[in-house]
Amino acid sequence: MPLGTLDETTSTLIHSPAGPDPEWWRTAVIYQIYPRSFADADGDGIGDLPGITARLHHLAELGVDAIWLSPFYTSPQHDAGYDVADYRQVDPRFGTLADADALLARARELGLRVIVDLVPNHTSDEHEWFQAALAAAPGSAERNRYIFRDGRGESGEEPPTNWESVFGGRAWTRITEPDGTLGQWYLHLFDSHQPDLNWENEEVRAEFDDVLRFWLDRGVDGFRVDVAHGLIKDQEFPDWGGHTTMVGGQDDDSVEAGDRPQAPMWDQPGVHEVYRRWHRVLADYDGDRALVAEAWTDTPEALARYVRPDEMHQAFNFDFLCTRWDASELRASITRGLTTSDEVGAPTTWVMSNHDVVRASSRLGLAETGKGPNGIGAEDTQPDAALGLRRASAAALLMLALPGSAYLYQGEELGLPEHTALPDQLRQDPAFFRTEGAEKGRDGCRVPLPWEADAPGFGFSPTGTTWLPQPEDWASFARDAQMDQPGSTLELYRAALRLRAEWELGAGSLAWVDGLPGAARDSVLAFQNGSVLVLVNLGEQDLRLPEGTEVLLASADLSGSGDGAAVLAPDVTAWVQLPQV
Ligand code: NOJ
Repeated sequence: MPLGTLDETTSTLIHSPAGPDPEWWRTAVIYQIYPRSFADADGDGIGDLPGITARLHHLAELGVDAIWLSPFYTSPQHDAGYDVADYRQVDPRFGTLADADALLARARELGLRVIVDLVPNHTSDEHEWFQAALAAAPGSAERNRYIFRDGRGESGEEPPTNWESVFGGRAWTRITEPDGTLGQWYLHLFDSHQPDLNWENEEVRAEFDDVLRFWLDRGVDGFRVDVAHGLIKDQEFPDWGGHTTMVGGQDDDSVEAGDRPQAPMWDQPGVHEVYRRWHRVLADYDGDRALVAEAWTDTPEALARYVRPDEMHQAFNFDFLCTRWDASELRASITRGLTTSDEVGAPTTWVMSNHDVVRASSRLGLAETGKGPNGIGAEDTQPDAALGLRRASAAALLMLALPGSAYLYQGEELGLPEHTALPDQLRQDPAFFRTEGAEKGRDGCRVPLPWEADAPGFGFSPTGTTWLPQPEDWASFARDAQMDQPGSTLELYRAALRLRAEWELGAGSLAWVDGLPGAARDSVLAFQNGSVLVLVNLGEQDLRLPEGTEVLLASADLSGSGDGAAVLAPDVTAWVQLPQV
């Protein structure tokens, strides 16, 4: 099917270019580092801060603007560091505060901004506050930093509400009081080792102002805020009929998003006051520091409330991540993302992968695309690896051509698939245990990175030790096997990031192009960002590009026609330069 010329097409502008000199976070490509799996310097098989510092130049070379570090603070690691015991200290597994300072200094040298993770919804049960709460009496100031309640039933044997933990099982655990009797219950929306803080308590708020300042004083450029929609709970503590997923409403797809009853633990109006306060803390510092919300809200409109001018700066656009590989659904999601954030003057973020979801190159190879399952096991239906990688590459070129900020998850630039054959006895994700294996969990997307094809542990660690085993066939994914290799995923990402910067796509505009011929009308996503036309073929037929088309970049070979004309095959994206007028 030939594209013909663009003469018969029409375009609809839905997003205008950013103003001059936008703040860095409006357009930045931000690379997520999951410290335990990025690079290990001391040889214990767990990645660490010196390992990151030593490899940071590779990220500058890749062309990203900033890094986001998942938690590296003192933690018993019941949820891979999202259970923080000391917010102002580095866990010895990852290094020291001096190592954190060295990392920040190296990043600065390389021109990379640094965002760190902040986990305010809950602490570790080993945090000194929680230990003090356990030792104190019901009703004490120490207990009031968390959410302790008496149980229901004659002797308090029933939990205070029926809420479930996101990781499965009950969201309440009963404690033994210091005198040895069975006592109160505490709330943990996640693992029982992650007690929820009481954000109604001013002492908690003041403490986090101080934690923010601690890291801002050390020079960080911002914070990724964990479970940003969870801090405030409905103080009536009503029972809740829905299953507690991370999503603001409930997981009842028969009811339209936005019309679902609001879950009492998510997205309560009171959270916004916390972020207004943090906005003011950041505003005291120079250099455009930023807050990014991890908020799983029911609708994009609800998400936009987190990025109003006096709150956070960015919020992860999970709507895009959860969208199926389908032209009209992607178009609708992109339009929603841009228009709802435009209304509050915030940039959109684009994200396809992180440490909580099945890697995009595997997810997109499943029969059912979209958010995907919580992990894949050896006995589950396996993704089509070739199809998944092809689509993930096309999706990457789609994402990186969109105006706004984009997030990459370590290994995404290598096209790394999910490890789908991890033995159960090696799994560490609490969700696997709390669901009694019904959910495999997130370990498969957290496997240590392959750096060198021929080194033990693929160069992740000097001893070859890795905290989770890497699939044996990962040599071809190793960074050194892909570097400077035409056609490799790494080279595709490098070229995309270079062109994105050159054409200022992050600060650009978006106009949908309609009126493509034949079947392409419904199955090819086409938009214009400045002088670049982006075509994503989500259909089943080839699309022949007009002679003389100036292709800037494509996610796969376009030379299928045999007669010299460029052909956009299914599951391929091309960036095309529009003729200058
Ligand atoms: C979201 C984080 O991304 C995830 O890894 C963690 O388990 C939960 N929040 C709880 O902190």
